[in-house]
Amino acid sequence: MSAMSVKNALEDIFQKFLEKQSLFKNREALSHEYLPDSFPHRDEQIKFIAEVMAPALRGFKPSNLFIYGKTGTGKTAVVRYVLSILKEMAGNLFSSLKTFYINCRLVGSEYRVYFTMCSNLGFRVPFTGLSIGELFERFCRYLDESRALFIIVLDEIDALVKDSGDEILYNLTRINEILKYSKVSLIGISNNLKFKELLEPKVLSSLSEEEIVFRPYNASELKDILWQRAKLAFYDGVVDEGTINLCSALAASEHGDARRALDLLRVAGELAEREGSDKIYERHVREAERRIEYDRVMEVMKNLPLHSKLIMCSLYFLEQSSLEYSITGDIYDVYNHLCSLLSTFPLTQRRVSGLINELDSLGLLNARVTSFGRYGRSKKIKLAVEPDLVYEVFSRDSRLKSILNLRLEEICGSPKKRRDRTG
Ligand SMILES: Nc1ncnc2c1ncn2[C@@H]1O[C@H](COP(=O)(O)OP(=O)(O)OP(=O)(O)O)[C@@H](O)[C@H]1O
Ligand SMILES: [Mg+2]
Repeated sequence: MSAMSVKNALEDIFQKFLEKQSLFKNREALSHEYLPDSFPHRDEQIKFIAEVMAPALRGFKPSNLFIYGKTGTGKTAVVRYVLSILKEMAGNLFSSLKTFYINCRLVGSEYRVYFTMCSNLGFRVPFTGLSIGELFERFCRYLDESRALFIIVLDEIDALVKDSGDEILYNLTRINEILKYSKVSLIGISNNLKFKELLEPKVLSSLSEEEIVFRPYNASELKDILWQRAKLAFYDGVVDEGTINLCSALAASEHGDARRALDLLRVAGELAEREGSDKIYERHVREAERRIEYDRVMEVMKNLPLHSKLIMCSLYFLEQSSLEYSITGDIYDVYNHLCSLLSTFPLTQRRVSGLINELDSLGLLNARVTSFGRYGRSKKIKLAVEPDLVYEVFSRDSRLKSILNLRLEEICGSPKKRRDRTG
């Protein structure tokens, strides 16, 4: 295409976009960051958190609070909302209330958590290099100098403990014994229901002086949440009962995740708009579901540890050579060859079995125990994702790029004798 015709084509696209009436009145209302000012079906939780935090208005330290519940149940949004109102009211009465919100998964390590809180207090500390003990000491000093009541929210707290252990929580839950002029109250949030098992009983009991669970929403609750947002986000007539019902039903069939329901609605709206449709139809929601699932799988695969990727690759190669399914032994065999190609030390077969189970529960492969008569029992294992997707995602991994174009024979040497399991 000549330069001029590219320009014409672009102008054409932009012109068409300008002529089309957008379906969205306010796209932001469906974004993950948007904080609504009402939360259907969370009255009980809002009231409870507010009552626990209320003493802060008189300068007293609220009890520590631990909140858990599955993903998309409104934990983050509700806590942020309650604290924003609390701060607003405290501003009029008792001005030295400060709140910190830390997303532990995004912030990362124990060091980074202290680093972030020191920066929030307006103090500079080196980005690396101090010992944790030293950093904690400085943090305590800065807190005391600030002479305030602090409410610290540690969101996705399980990520922190998984990576750095529970030492940081041990220190933070006892910090009031060290402070002279300031006080700290903690709100921990987790969507990992097993998180509590990772904590020392002493740490757990101080962190969860108060505790509340956010239960998953059912389809009818999700409908109310979606309607509230749909009215803000779309022009009248774009969304109807059928669209909302379908988005709610699909999200409720997993575990009642409001984020997923909102994502379905947003993506369906974008698809309908791009197509030039005047409203959202069922097919847009179905297509949105497919795309969201595709993105989820891509994201999960991209972030797998190397050895899990190598197991997926082994299965990919076996299936390329037209085996209908594989057994653990075959996979382990190819896996070992791949490890030696990459000069990586292979894990034991037992560990590999464990990783296969994990990949199964992530929905990336299907493993089913089957009896092979006199050969005993083994697992029939198949990829649960398209082989093309394996190729696409892993070829972006610099370590795996070089091996993905090989054939099974090139990896394992001469074709191995296998029981014929095709057909
Ligand atoms: N009751 C509700 N009313 C309105 N919006 C809600 C409600 N519950 C959740 N949401 C919305 O759903 C999305 C997900 O909620 P939120 O981020 O609070 O989930 P979460 O419980 O923190 O999940 P995760 O454990 O994955 O962090 C947000 O956009 C939030 O605004
Ligand atoms: Mg959250």
